[in-house]
Amino acid sequence: MNSPTDSLLATPRERSPARGVRVPVARSLEPDRNILLQHIDAMCASRRFSNCGPIHEALRERLCEWLDADRLGLFSSATSALTVALRAHRVSGEVITTPFSFAASAQVIEWAGALPVFVDIDPVSLTIDPARVEAAITPNTSAILAVHTYGVPCDVRALEDIAKRHQLALIFDAAHAFDVRIDSTPIHRFGNATIYSTHASKLFHTGEGGVLVCSDEATQRRCDRMANFGFDGSGDAVECGTNAKMSELHAATGLAVLPKVNAERAARAALRFEYTSALNGIDGISLMAPPIHVKDSLQYLAIRVKSEAAETDNRIRNTVYERLISLGLESRKYFSPLCADFSYVSQENCRTTDELTVARRAVHQVLCLPFHSGVNRDTVLLIADTFREVIRRDS
Ligand SMILES: Cc1ncc(COP(=O)(O)O)c(C=O)c1O
Repeated sequence: MNSPTDSLLATPRERSPARGVRVPVARSLEPDRNILLQHIDAMCASRRFSNCGPIHEALRERLCEWLDADRLGLFSSATSALTVALRAHRVSGEVITTPFSFAASAQVIEWAGALPVFVDIDPVSLTIDPARVEAAITPNTSAILAVHTYGVPCDVRALEDIAKRHQLALIFDAAHAFDVRIDSTPIHRFGNATIYSTHASKLFHTGEGGVLVCSDEATQRRCDRMANFGFDGSGDAVECGTNAKMSELHAATGLAVLPKVNAERAARAALRFEYTSALNGIDGISLMAPPIHVKDSLQYLAIRVKSEAAETDNRIRNTVYERLISLGLESRKYFSPLCADFSYVSQENCRTTDELTVARRAVHQVLCLPFHSGVNRDTVLLIADTFREVIRRDS
């Protein structure tokens, strides 16, 4: 396996991945096979494959310690956890959210029976703009669903203040923000509920899965119950639930991935340093990064490629994207298109309060570059060379 600290052996012209080798934008951590097989053996022997068995409970405990959470629930996905959290907080009417996110964060609002209201984002953090949130509140607003995009925290204190003054539920989608801390405070200590994704694309993963942390114990219990058809343990369903449980096999994957997380984090921190040095000084390119007092999720390496205010196409970003594909290097234009621009979206199933000017510009600027311990320094330098070359030809 190449390490991000591999020494630079090739000159720029010689750098290119071996023929046919593709560098993916993300790479799932391989679980520790011994740990995984031990859990699979125990699971088969006990014939217990789901319904909060011992492996599920062991992962729940380990994650409480890891994330410094008083309580948490394990779910089949972040999407199911978000849907349950919205219903448990009895959202209805309108829910204010960001258009600059993965499809799930807006779709869960509709699944919970409410209307997503899209407002613009902050030009620096690319997270929801609290001033826009406040301006969009109507008597029908019941909640704010904010996303810690690329693991960069929202303005959590401003959002908490707004939610409190207007008596709104505040739900954070922290799909990208596993173990992020603000001044050592875990990110889930803000708002009423926080949801992490443990999908295979995430640094810590369970194959498919999600984690929900609620600020109060009663709501946490309610969410756990709703994830299991609303059953109260006596056989009665005391409310309308769903099946959003994490299986034993998924929990076993998590227990076998967890011991590898710190080494992957260290490799990604070194890789981020390589990218920072290699891209430094290239005109119009900047790296998205959390502020200094925030623990980095090391989930994405997102860069922004400057574009003019009126530009609806970013030639440089798009040419680099195509060039990288031809070199076998995968990158992603996350999050394009905006959630407000998907073809299923209409005036009947969403409301947009302003022009979304910042978000509309961001979709043309952002590029997520390959970011995992399988990326080496030559690849980083090749990407930097590609940017230089495309910018030189464009000018
Ligand atoms: C911001 C955001 N929210 C929600 C999700 C959905 O997560 P999951 O695939 O675990 O349902 C994702 C997926 O990457 C995401 O990026």
